[in-house]
Amino acid sequence: MSHKSTPPDPPLMMMFKSFTLSLPSFTCSCSLELMERTQGKTSREKDRYTTRISAGPQQIANKGSDSSIQSLHKTQGPINTMNFPSHSTPQYKKEQAPQLKPNLVSVTQSPQLKHPCQTSDADIGAELVRHGKLLSQIEETNSKRNTVLEGIADMALSNRTTMWLEILVALVVVGMTLRFWYTYTSGHCTSTRSMAGKTVIITGGTAGIGKETARDLLRRGARVIIACRNMEKGRKVADELRSASNAGGEVLVRRLDTSDLSSVRTFAKEVLDTEKAIHVLINNAGIYGMGKRQVTADGLELTMATNHFGHFLLTNLLLGRLKESGPSRIINVSSLGHIFAPKFDLNDLAINNDYNPNNAYTTSKLCNLLFTRELADKMAGTGVTVNSLHPGIVRTEIFDSMNLSFGTFLTHILLAVASKDAVSGAQTSIHLAVSEEVEGMTGRYFGDCKEVSTSDVALRKDLATGLWEASVKAVGLKKDEIHY
Ligand SMILES: NC(=O)c1ccc[n+]([C@@H]2O[C@H](COP(=O)([O-])OP(=O)(O)OC[C@H]3O[C@@H](n4cnc5c(N)ncnc54)[C@H](OP(=O)(O)O)[C@@H]3O)[C@@H](O)[C@H]2O)c1
Repeated sequence: MSHKSTPPDPPLMMMFKSFTLSLPSFTCSCSLELMERTQGKTSREKDRYTTRISAGPQQIANKGSDSSIQSLHKTQGPINTMNFPSHSTPQYKKEQAPQLKPNLVSVTQSPQLKHPCQTSDADIGAELVRHGKLLSQIEETNSKRNTVLEGIADMALSNRTTMWLEILVALVVVGMTLRFWYTYTSGHCTSTRSMAGKTVIITGGTAGIGKETARDLLRRGARVIIACRNMEKGRKVADELRSASNAGGEVLVRRLDTSDLSSVRTFAKEVLDTEKAIHVLINNAGIYGMGKRQVTADGLELTMATNHFGHFLLTNLLLGRLKESGPSRIINVSSLGHIFAPKFDLNDLAINNDYNPNNAYTTSKLCNLLFTRELADKMAGTGVTVNSLHPGIVRTEIFDSMNLSFGTFLTHILLAVASKDAVSGAQTSIHLAVSEEVEGMTGRYFGDCKEVSTSDVALRKDLATGLWEASVKAVGLKKDEIHY
């Protein structure tokens, strides 16, 4: 019959053309996927990506699907899964759509599958088989291409992962090197002096720098009084320090909350009642500023009360005994952070203006230095020396209270790469407490067991005297409590 020699049926041609025409758009969509994939999508998206690629053949096969074709599928086998032309390319729409429509309609509308050119059922069946085979080939080709694309995507993913791993390793190596350098170039107390027979008070001896200072002084045979706000924690720390095989001295725990002036007075009375001598007072307790400004029962801002006013009162209350016990030493643990203190305002020691945790902390640390300067002047010639220090950046509990912020994030990065452990952080405090080198030195500021310079503001006599007078008023220092 003549139709055997006629060109392929329009639907078949349409399907084939549709496939070839839709191939670029499909490939493009795969490439876009691949680009997305290689430009930083997370591995979780791999599934979505793979699914979309696998969906490709179906997408092509199902474009333009028609319910009539589905019914044809039931009776004629392979054609049923066949896809009539893809409408995905504008090129196709323009050139092919007018030809397709009549054929498609005539095939799908005829319940007997009558073809417009009177093709017999057998011929149609043969064509359908051919269509089916072609479709299988298309699907096979798609499947191979998908496998290749997946392979490329996996390779890109693995290259990207390798790159990130290399960056991570490089960062860890740099961090470890910095950390090693920071720890081993930081000062260490070289004095082997015994502290047997000496009484030392350490405020905030339950954690961090204070605890390690207490451990060292106990090893040297001192009678160490840990002044702490949490007695339970204090007893545990004391037990831990005592149980160390090299603990040569004696450790006691007494309650002191430096943010509470009545607690300071009670502690001072207990100490004066029980201790005949005080050789070293280490004003170490400290907090970082609170997220929200807080005021104590005495009407003082909490950070300033804890870090400055409490220690100011305590030192004054013990000053008489310290003088009697001379030579004796007072050590104020300040911070390099004092250089970041906002403009120092003697009329705003309650940090009412521009309160933020950093302003409160750095101001309190500047006060430690001004207090040191003025006290050194007042104690000149008495046998009592007073010095201050910056312990370095030390990994301790003080950073735990910081609120989440970008500044905190940077601080923690700094802590991870360039910080000391508490043992190293305690070295300058220990140096100032025991070393023969600093005998008679007073009014100085130390870092890494060496004298270092402070900010210019911290050297100003007018501010030091002004702070002293304001502090006397703030803590209500009585005449009989004055020993200078
Ligand atoms: N870590 C650093 O990088 C760094 C840098 C510069 C200066 N500093 C200074 O070093 C000193 C010690 O800090 P750290 O790093 O060792 O911090 P830490 O591990 O938090 O230790 C602080 C100590 O102070 C105590 N404390 C806090 N508030 C107190 C209060 N109201 N009354 C009595 N004790 C109180 C704490 O007692 P609890 O155990 O009950 O909390 C703890 O024992 C602080 O003055 C700090 O400003 C530290």
